[in-house]
Amino acid sequence: MLVVDNIHTYYGASHILHGVSLNVAEGAVVALLGRNGAGKTTTLRSIIGLTPPRRGAIRFNGADTAGRKPHTMTRLGVSYLPETRGILPSLSVQENLTLADGRRPGPWTLKRVYELFPGLYERKSHGGGQLSGGEQQMLAIARALLLNPALLLLDEPTEGLAPIIVRDIMARLKTVKEEGMTILLVEQNFRFATSIADDVYVLGKGAVQWSGSASEILAETAVQKTWLGV
Ligand SMILES: Nc1ncnc2c1ncn2[C@@H]1O[C@H](COP(=O)(O)OP(=O)(O)OP(=O)(O)O)[C@@H](O)[C@H]1O
Ligand SMILES: [Mg+2]
Repeated sequence: MLVVDNIHTYYGASHILHGVSLNVAEGAVVALLGRNGAGKTTTLRSIIGLTPPRRGAIRFNGADTAGRKPHTMTRLGVSYLPETRGILPSLSVQENLTLADGRRPGPWTLKRVYELFPGLYERKSHGGGQLSGGEQQMLAIARALLLNPALLLLDEPTEGLAPIIVRDIMARLKTVKEEGMTILLVEQNFRFATSIADDVYVLGKGAVQWSGSASEILAETAVQKTWLGV
């Protein structure tokens, strides 16, 4: 579904990604792991078109999409959840969900996302800014699902959340996966990532340092130590 082929991405004169390649097959959950500053967010920004690569190719469902604008990528079926969740604090939960632009037809309706996140249904009239960090993250995931993307890009959905909330989010994302969603997941939480992912790419210094299956990396203690600090 998604092929990232040898991309080089810059912020101004800073050369950040040095030939990153990865593949996401339809229906798979692929985790992108790595320490702070490894280039994980930059990889997602390259794919969604916020920071297009200067060299290399990106193909989504066969189309060459490197350099396309974010709204075009949304229309093509790629939904991106940034680290800063992008909740509108002055709007209600329901408004945050229904005002999303670029919705495609598909299985995720307001009813379905409320079934997945009953806590959001209970707070549907509350302001987005009144929610806890965990609830805001769930709202951001729910909003991304409502777009009915073919591919969901998630940037550290568990960052800064209490362990019990992390487990809750993990369970919901497993349901989303079981319902067939394709996900590229950026994470620093190694246990969370390896429990949901099929394949793993380890980024370090703007390049892929290791790739393999989620079960393989559990045995790769040297890789974990050098590139993840697990
Ligand atoms: N807007 C920017 N301008 C210049 N350099 C940037 C910018 N954003 C990120 N960088 C640099 O690019 C490198 C990769 O950053 P990136 O945000 O992709 O890392 P990351 O793996 O997502 O890290 P984290 O786990 O902290 O989110 C870092 O060295 C960072 O300082
Ligand atoms: Mg990041």
